[in-house]
Formats: sequence, structure tokens, C-alpha cells
Amino acid sequence: EKGGWDSFMDKEIHEDPAAVQRTLIGRMDDDGHINLDEVRIDEHELKSIDKIIVIGCGTASYAGMVAKYAIEHWVRIPVEIELAHEFRYRDPILTPRTLVVAISQSGETMDTLMALRHAREQGSKVLAICNTQGASIAREADAVLYTQAGPEVAVASTKAFVAQITAAYVLGLYLAQLKGAVYRDEIHSTLASLKDMPAKIQWVLDTQAAAIEQAARELADSKSFLFLGRHVGYPVAMEGALKLKEIAYTFTEGFAAGELKHGPIALVEPGEPVVFIVPPKRGRDVLHAKVISGIEEVKARGATIIAVAEENDPDVKRYADIVFWRPACPTLMSPLVDVVPLQLFAMDVAKQKGYDVDKPRNLAKSVTVE
Ligand code: BG6
Repeated sequence: EKGGWDSFMDKEIHEDPAAVQRTLIGRMDDDGHINLDEVRIDEHELKSIDKIIVIGCGTASYAGMVAKYAIEHWVRIPVEIELAHEFRYRDPILTPRTLVVAISQSGETMDTLMALRHAREQGSKVLAICNTQGASIAREADAVLYTQAGPEVAVASTKAFVAQITAAYVLGLYLAQLKGAVYRDEIHSTLASLKDMPAKIQWVLDTQAAAIEQAARELADSKSFLFLGRHVGYPVAMEGALKLKEIAYTFTEGFAAGELKHGPIALVEPGEPVVFIVPPKRGRDVLHAKVISGIEEVKARGATIIAVAEENDPDVKRYADIVFWRPACPTLMSPLVDVVPLQLFAMDVAKQKGYDVDKPRNLAKSVTVE
């Protein structure tokens, strides 16, 4: 059932492109119109939504962080992201005009399920982004947008993450279409970029695997790693840090790169591996320049720089010790490719250390207790 791969995690990472592609199928037509008849919430009700709260745990919560950047940008309504277990117990402000989006691969995570119930009791609508047909969260939500990643067996989530981001993007563009918030042309071109992503992920899998494995060999004994990113690179940094701690049992921390000088830089000593998610240089030059200056600062303190960056980025070539390249893509699409080398890296480090990558100690695939 591992289809020739030596672990489910390996197999599932290699299904990232298919997970994105299948999550798009049947949800848009050629002239850039999104059809989500499956979302059974009345269109008028959706149009009246004035706030979105995305909830989830672990990897799903990082997909939700990515969703915030994109949905606020396209739909122009406030989007909050909150861990489901924090949301439930702090008496959040919920009205019939609040849409709660619950993200869960398994659809059985108790923290997320309890949060969903609370939101519905308060009169808000809940839309689930779920990978498992008929799961509790899918059944109890007002509407479901299924991710079509296929069954995910390895405990550490990989292909479900890229599928969750894809589904959240489809939802965001659909809401933008309903609200007339974004011109049809922009929706059309954004969908076209989204459709290009599976091939770009495939490029990473095909061309970067050897460099990633080499880096894992060199760095497997490191005591800790820092992961830094900005904008949508921030949740990617969090997810990269989570993958490595989950399966390689290495101490990792993910940070927003802008926080570096407000604390984390104190941790940097010679040889400390620091992973940077570098945004594209075109379009959002400011973001790129800020991340490069962060790289310079830790480099000056002797850190080992590992960068995930766009092919041929000259600044990255100058400063990074190790680079995992990705093809050019719009900033908002970059999490779909940038996370892939980090998934492979975590797996390779864990294998180097001789661990079972599919069944990490102390963790369960779905946590059905609160
Ligand atoms: C954790 C799993 O306990 O639950 C993670 O080990 C997962 O991989 C998290 O991200 C949330 O699970 P789900 O099924 O709600 O997406």
C-alpha cells in the first residue's frame, strides 16, 4: 500500500502535486468562474458575512494562517485565525454574520469539533475544510469543502496541508466573486496561477531531493533549528519547524522573521542552523529585502543559513550556505511550494537519525480527546 515508497510519509509528500490538483477539480470553469454548489450556505447569507474566524490545530492551523493573508487580500473582510482549543474557551465574539472555517484533515479532532459546536450554538455558520468524507466535523458543519488529498496515513501531515491551503484559496476566491470584491480578471489570473502550482511542486520534488538529503546528512546532529519567514512565509516557517520537531525530535522554533531582533537573535551562535523562507523578489521587493537583511544579521553571528528561495535569487546565492530552490510563483502561491522541501528535510533528518517517520513517538494521527 506504500506503492513502492519506503514510508507513507515519503509517498504522501510525493502526492502533494496531486493533492492540490484534485482539490481544484470541478470547482472552477475555464472563464475563471468558481462554482461551489457543494457549499450549501445560502448565497445571501454568505454575502452578509462580515468576519471570518478560521480554527484548527497543528498543521491545519498553519494552513489557516496562510488562508488569512489570502482571504483578507481578496475579500477585504477581517479574517482571524485561532487555535481551536483557545477559541472555544475564551468566549469569542460570534454573530450570525460570522463565518467560522474549521480546518481538519481527519475531521475528528476533538478540540476542533468542540469549537465548531460552540460556534454553531452561538448562531454562526461553520464551514469545514476536511479531508475525510463523513467525519464528525464534516457532518456537524453547515457546509463542507472537501480537500481531495486522499487518505493520509503518516502521523505528520503533509499532502493535507497543501490541499487545505488550496481549498481555503478556492473559498476565498469564491467569496470574492460573490461579494464582487475582486475583478473577474484578477480571479481568473489567480486561478490560473493556482492551476500551475502542481507542476511547480513537482519540479521541487524532481530537482531538489538530492540537495535536501545532503543537507539532512550534514545537519542531522544539530541540537536545534530556527525557522523564520515573513508574510505567508511565516506560517510556512511554523510548519517547517513543526514537521522537524514532530518526527526528528529536534528542538525547533518557528518565528516571524521581523521578530528576530526582538528576541530570537539572542539564540544565534556560531553554527546554529537557521532556515529562512525567502519571498519572491519581484512584486514585493520590500518583503524580500527585509528577509535578506535578517539573513545578513544572523550570518554575521556565524549561523548556518539554509534558505528556501526562488530559483537564481542572487542575494540568496551570496549569503546562504544551503539553498532549496523553488520555481518563480506569485507570493500568495509560494507556501504551496515552499513547504515541500521542509517536509522532505524533516523526513530525511528523521531517517538519518533512524526514526520511524510514519509513527513518531507520543503522537497520534487524530486526537479525539480534548
Ligand atoms: C495532530 C496531528 O495531533 O492533529 C497533526 O498529529 C495534525 O498532524 C493535528 O495537524 C490536527 O489534525 P486534524 O486531523 O484536525 O487536521
